Amino acid sequence: MKSERKLTSFDKVAKRYSKDVIPYRYPQYLTMIHLLELGGSEQVLDIGSGPGIMSLELAKLIPKGYLKGGDISEPMVALASENARRLGVSNAEFMVEDALNLSFPDETFDVIISSNAFPWVSDRKKFLKEVFRTLKPGGKFGLVSLADTVYQEFADALTAIAHNYDDRIPSGPDFSVAGARVFTQQNLANFVRENGFEILRSFRFSAEEPISPEKYLNRVNSIVNENYLDDLEPDEKTQARADIIEALNQLFGDKLVITESSIFVLARRTE
Ligand SMILES: C[S@@+](CC[C@H](N)C(=O)[O-])C[C@H]1O[C@@H](n2cnc3c(N)ncnc32)[C@H](O)[C@@H]1O
Repeated sequence: MKSERKLTSFDKVAKRYSKDVIPYRYPQYLTMIHLLELGGSEQVLDIGSGPGIMSLELAKLIPKGYLKGGDISEPMVALASENARRLGVSNAEFMVEDALNLSFPDETFDVIISSNAFPWVSDRKKFLKEVFRTLKPGGKFGLVSLADTVYQEFADALTAIAHNYDDRIPSGPDFSVAGARVFTQQNLANFVRENGFEILRSFRFSAEEPISPEKYLNRVNSIVNENYLDDLEPDEKTQARADIIEALNQLFGDKLVITESSIFVLARRTE
């Protein structure tokens, strides 16, 4: 099985991601953890655990269980391990794992969670197959995945300036966060159902928060590492950054918001 490692862009942005994204995602993490109705002794896997913040919040609620966090990015695994030490959480362990080829035996976990790794994997059927395989029959699967409206304001700003760059900047529907696949609530729930799971809950989770254009640009870059400027020359990139900020100001002014929008699916492995 080919490794996904080369495909991930998260190695370069691990620390920035923690600073610029995690604070806005906290409500999502806590909502998903609450939906799982944990008993306290479950064996849990977090796939694509990143800096491990959701994993560690969950680990605190399973004092008699354990949490394993698997991520394909070594810098992310290092950061999550450091966070576990810093927060004194001793029942969590982080390791390098490819979601498409998990190292765990069949039927290992009572619960599997995954927050916003699903949009980046190259083979989403295989991802669900691995979740199904490593979950115990009847085990719960909590999936959080980017919604189709995520970072819409940023996509609009790129569209507004794309003609200045002979369309070497992605615009409109071509803009995707680092190649991420986004879903509607119905599409994602159907996809999970078609791959062997019973759907217990599914809904769109949205929050909007005012932000300055500069911070917004920073935040998007903490996920995509400016990949939307890849086709520009270095001096054009400086101009493009200024143009994006100007476009965000013109389009939205002080109404600019982060559209933090994800689809939640709580599912169960059928027997
Ligand atoms: C947007 S981050 C989400 C991190 C964390 N779950 C959160 O919600 O804050 C996506 C994570 O998925 C990881 N990832 C991407 N492809 C993966 C794969 N095939 N296997 C495991 N992890 C993967 C990335 O390295 C990254 O840490």
